[in-house]
Amino acid sequence: MATIESINKEKLPIHVAVIMDGNGRWAQRKGNSRIFGHQNGVLAVRQTVEAASELGIQYLTLYAFSTENWNRPREEVNALMSLLINTIEKELDSLLENNVSLHIIGDTESLPEDVQKQLSAAIEKTRNNNGLNLVLALSYSGRWEILNAMRKLALDVKNNKIQANELGCDSFSQYLTTADLPDPELLIRTSGEYRISNFLLWQIAYAELYFTDILWPDFRKEHFFDAIVDFQKRERRFGKISEQINSESVN
Ligand code: FPP
Repeated sequence: MATIESINKEKLPIHVAVIMDGNGRWAQRKGNSRIFGHQNGVLAVRQTVEAASELGIQYLTLYAFSTENWNRPREEVNALMSLLINTIEKELDSLLENNVSLHIIGDTESLPEDVQKQLSAAIEKTRNNNGLNLVLALSYSGRWEILNAMRKLALDVKNNKIQANELGCDSFSQYLTTADLPDPELLIRTSGEYRISNFLLWQIAYAELYFTDILWPDFRKEHFFDAIVDFQKRERRFGKISEQINSESVN
């Protein structure tokens, strides 16, 4: 497994996004409830945040709860919401000590009121931190976000705030919940599933995808470093050819 020393600090991805998957299977393999899997997933969250912070990654986005996750059994949804509140409460001091600022993307108004309050307070308390930006995707889905952006955009076109033919990728991005964030350069998914599951559909256009069989509760710093080492071996061409990329890096 990779160590932090094996990583080139000059070639870090600015933004890493993670689909944390496999909590349920991890717990069921141990003969436990799915909720036990989510509880154990918190350690993997902490390890990932620490790894990203130690490396000097600027943005880390974690897919913590999707729009579709509302359809899970009520008991599991409630347990996930309680876990979120307890974890934010427990980890707030550590976020402050490590200079991490907290952000949320998603349909936050659909979250229970106590969760919204707790999150707003934590966001406020960490707002002046200038180390890692930790973004939690909560009640989030890519299609929800694009649809939501289209609604706002349609109103702006109707009210003559923007002309439809002036719209480009950059101006459209400003309507998304990620308006202030750079696009992820690396997307990690755990648990051996090869899917995007409605995550950051617009933003991952050029992200490098990294899949690992590790189930989320077993994910540790070294696994995160493995993904970064793999990312650093990729040639990112953005539609150009290899020779162009090589001559750009020489000039
Ligand atoms: C996916 O595994 C995981 C989730 C839907 C929830 C992720 C939540 C945590 C890691 C805990 C709390 C997070 C924070 C940020 C405090 P799954 O349930 O889909 O697993 P399965 O595919 O094996 O069923």
